Amino acid sequence: MVGAEKELKIHFRPGCVRLLEEDVSVPDRRVLVTGATGLLGRAVYKEFLDNNWNAVGCGYRRARPKFEKVNLLDPGAVRKIIQEFKPQAVIHCAAERRPDVVESQPEYARQLNVSTSGCIAKESAEIGAFLIYMSTDYIFDGSHPPYRENDAPNPLSLYGKTKLEGERLVLKNHPGAAVLRVPILYGRVEELDECSVTVIFGKVQCSSTVACMDHWQQRFPTHVADVARVCRQMSERRIQDPSISGIFHWSGNERMTKFEIACTMADVFNLPSSHLRAVTDGPAAGALRPRDAQLDCSRLEQLGIGQRTPFRLGLQRCLWPFLCDKQWRQTVFH
Ligand SMILES: NC(=O)c1ccc[n+]([C@@H]2O[C@H](COP(=O)([O-])OP(=O)(O)OC[C@H]3O[C@@H](n4cnc5c(N)ncnc54)[C@H](OP(=O)(O)O)[C@@H]3O)[C@@H](O)[C@H]2O)c1
Repeated sequence: MVGAEKELKIHFRPGCVRLLEEDVSVPDRRVLVTGATGLLGRAVYKEFLDNNWNAVGCGYRRARPKFEKVNLLDPGAVRKIIQEFKPQAVIHCAAERRPDVVESQPEYARQLNVSTSGCIAKESAEIGAFLIYMSTDYIFDGSHPPYRENDAPNPLSLYGKTKLEGERLVLKNHPGAAVLRVPILYGRVEELDECSVTVIFGKVQCSSTVACMDHWQQRFPTHVADVARVCRQMSERRIQDPSISGIFHWSGNERMTKFEIACTMADVFNLPSSHLRAVTDGPAAGALRPRDAQLDCSRLEQLGIGQRTPFRLGLQRCLWPFLCDKQWRQTVFH
């Protein structure tokens, strides 16, 4: 193991190799996180690093200086990083997850969401690494919630279709892999528009302009730190328990529409909400979306895996740096 560590130090920048010489008694647990520059991947990388895993994260456009720059569309690059790092676990977060972008660039989206995922699965299986493929509640049509893992998928959008094809190819190429489906995510963002929950905060704070908000689609906003914890717990449990494979669901348990999310933000930060208007029609434009794709999480719950950050607390933690009223911010948080 120590020899392996020394070898790894040659291939990866010192900052990426966390085990120190005096830590040799600590199990050498290596995890590769794809999409480590993204909303979920950042939280996953941090969760493993904070819990004594040797983590390497890869990104693409935002990779440098913290992460490895790997174009996952290149099968040779995928093989190289997996063969060189030889992780015990791979958490595959990289994807094109904006439904409207998937519709407008279908070939690129299919390549990243399906072919790349299949390639990562094949390479992970070859070295015996556990793989978690991140998927979505959008593989369901939302007509018969709550959904269990074995319920029949019926994606409405091309995004949902590519993620479902990705699931199937991953499990075909790596039967011991896990698929983890999650709904709308939120957490610490670099910019408010990085995430479809936090982007609402801009409209909430602009109280001089009427903001029409969807009050049709049922959402279960889920904190990325909670999903990251699930990924780590599954990976650790899997070391002893080979039954940790196949499809799993994780989700927050607070049901709300985007209009209700906006009202909650206004309430948490004591901001006006009279400019927020509820729109109860279904989506008129853009990719089709399921009305209520609530995920049943009992499989993970029965394993004692998972945590749920209360939504108001999660919002407070990730939004306060973006509060325009700096005086109010100082009064409350300092
Ligand atoms: N966000 C949600 O609400 C949500 C809901 C359900 C499921 N999910 C699933 O959760 C996973 C993570 O989503 P997210 O919101 O964290 O996505 P995200 O913030 O959009 O991040 C996407 C990641 O993919 C990387 N990437 C894109 N093209 C790449 C390429 N050619 N080579 C290497 N890396 C590439 C990006 O790297 P760079 O930015 O460095 O280029 C980035 O790290 C996805 O599988 C998604 O389908 C997300």
